[in-house]
Amino acid sequence: MKKIKIGLVGVGSVAHWGHIPAYQNDPRAEITAICDINEDRLKKTAEELGVKEVYTDFNEMMKKSDCDAISVATWNNSHKDATIAGLRAGKAVLVEKPMAMSAKEAEEMNKVAKETGSLLMVGFCSRFADDAMRLRKMIDDGRLGDIYYVKAGYLRRRGNPKGWFADKSRSGGGALIDIGVHALDRSWWLMGRPKPVSVLGFTWNKFGDYKTVSEAYSTDLLNEKSAFDVDDMAVALIRFEGDKALFLEASWAQNLKEGIGYQEVYGDKGGAKLYPLELYTDLDYNQVNIQVPTSNVILHNAEIKHFLDCIEKGEETMNPGEDGVTIMKILDAIYESSRTGKEVRF
Ligand SMILES: NC(=O)c1ccc[n+]([C@@H]2O[C@H](COP(=O)([O-])OP(=O)(O)OC[C@H]3O[C@@H](n4cnc5c(N)ncnc54)[C@H](O)[C@@H]3O)[C@@H](O)[C@H]2O)c1
Repeated sequence: MKKIKIGLVGVGSVAHWGHIPAYQNDPRAEITAICDINEDRLKKTAEELGVKEVYTDFNEMMKKSDCDAISVATWNNSHKDATIAGLRAGKAVLVEKPMAMSAKEAEEMNKVAKETGSLLMVGFCSRFADDAMRLRKMIDDGRLGDIYYVKAGYLRRRGNPKGWFADKSRSGGGALIDIGVHALDRSWWLMGRPKPVSVLGFTWNKFGDYKTVSEAYSTDLLNEKSAFDVDDMAVALIRFEGDKALFLEASWAQNLKEGIGYQEVYGDKGGAKLYPLELYTDLDYNQVNIQVPTSNVILHNAEIKHFLDCIEKGEETMNPGEDGVTIMKILDAIYESSRTGKEVRF
């Protein structure tokens, strides 16, 4: 069987714990080329993987490499250009979340995907969790009725990743664009991707370069100097067509007891929550709670399996560029609402 040749653009943290093991785990794929601007990391990764083709410039990689597909896992400020270079070179592209720094960039990427016909998939990995997949199927089957209210949060007490994450020129934003994007995307996807109508958003930068021991990150970024010109907490209330609302909150740093992630979904026939999946409904005039057994899924393995399935079978992705564009529009609107103190209408 001819292997699908993979090029990795950005071989930092998520490439190492997410993308590389996932490609290695799938017999259809073979990592043949890698690119990073950090030459030490590039050399070390090439040795680890036994890869001969190495590049410090992704434009050169797209010209010279015969890889079929790329994973873009760089800082957010190069997602757009690396993705477009890949699409124009006829490669299938999996780009990490957030899709880009802004909706304008995401729209440009999606436009090139449409023009070239190359596959563009956005790395919204949290959709692939078994409990989220099962809940989405139940919602699609109408078990929860009309989903009119959703609540989601991704909150850390002290979990600022520092380095480029906290430098707006390289990240585009802080806690909201980094981890809030997961809660936002999964909620919107569970709701059936409704059209956003308006956004009321709040963001804060209260903690900056705090000295408290970090709970979430143990990378070399902890020792990097950071600009800290991004949000460390965000809250938003988003209205969608069909009288639907989403309450969203995200923090890298906040004085709460302990970090948590939660996802709640309320329909007129039933409610549900994730981690673990539970349903709340009525049965013969009694209130009943149902616990649904689920499996543990390694999210990047499932995401990359789907990416390879799409390449192999020519199928459409469940995470298309259009979804990334809508999510970026909502993120932009949360930042704008926070800046102007006004509700933003689409
Ligand atoms: N899906 C998830 O759960 C998840 C988790 C972590 C990170 N991410 C995303 O993955 C991306 C990378 O995050 P990370 O934690 O691996 O960061 P990282 O800093 O550990 O790695 C990024 C790598 O990209 C390289 N790079 C930067 N600009 C480049 C360019 N123009 N060309 C080539 N290489 C370049 C850097 O040198 C670095 O090695 C970010 O977009 C982040 O939001 C997603």
